[in-house]
Amino acid sequence: MILIFLGPPGSGKGTQSQIIQHKLKLLHLSTGDMFRKAIQDGTAVGKQAQAYMDRGEYVPDEVVVALIEERIQEPDCKNGFILDGFPRTAPQAEALDALLAKLKRPITHVISFVIDHAKLSGRISGRRVCTVCGRVTHVSEIPASGKFENCSNQNSDCELIQREDDQAEVVEKRLEVYQEQTAPIIEHYRNHSKFFEINADQSANDVTSDVMKVLEG
Ligand code: AP5
Repeated sequence: MILIFLGPPGSGKGTQSQIIQHKLKLLHLSTGDMFRKAIQDGTAVGKQAQAYMDRGEYVPDEVVVALIEERIQEPDCKNGFILDGFPRTAPQAEALDALLAKLKRPITHVISFVIDHAKLSGRISGRRVCTVCGRVTHVSEIPASGKFENCSNQNSDCELIQREDDQAEVVEKRLEVYQEQTAPIIEHYRNHSKFFEINADQSANDVTSDVMKVLEG
């Protein structure tokens, strides 16, 4: 199974990927997470990506495409994966189509998370991410203790931080860039026989249930 999750920043792609990957035993490939890890590790790719991410702009296509081309050919991708945040531009979509055709591995489903953009800033400004397990949550869901138990089933508590690019002025830029460069590629996939729009403006459980219905249907 190869799933593509499309949607604006804050629409819930990461949240749903984290749930669906366990349900369907797929790998979750988030280009945003890959870049954040590369920055943390101080790699050459991380150094290339950081300035773009800090400004809320997209990392150049050639850098992202090279990263994904290499990653999806690794053995652990054999049983299927979710692409969260890739492709985001027309050249990325074309490069992915060409690579998957070469590998004879078709895209199984394209899921587009639809939500009014006015709802996104509240979600993003309240987002917190665990530095231990990568779990994504919202300030409204943090227990009174300030920590989640069973962080990723490790014997450790969650350590929740706000992402650097979740500052209001950067978020505004990210939404603008999404509208200009990514919204148009939804049209690229609209004719795919397994393209589905999901209402992302409902509880995360209801979103998961709608996604599972289309994947199982
Ligand atoms: P990336 O990390 O991919 O960020 P993004 O696409 O902007 O998406 P987000 O992570 O902000 O949102 P999400 O849809 O995953 O929402 P989430 O589930 O977290 O990319 C970061 C940067 O990396 C880019 O700006 C770019 O610079 C670079 N980059 C990455 N990929 C690239 C590419 N392909 N090309 C070029 N550059 C690239 O949820 C958000 C919040 O809402 C959370 O608090 C969550 O708890 C809450 N929430 C989720 N679902 C619900 C719900 N149903 N109801 C209420 N709250 C909810």
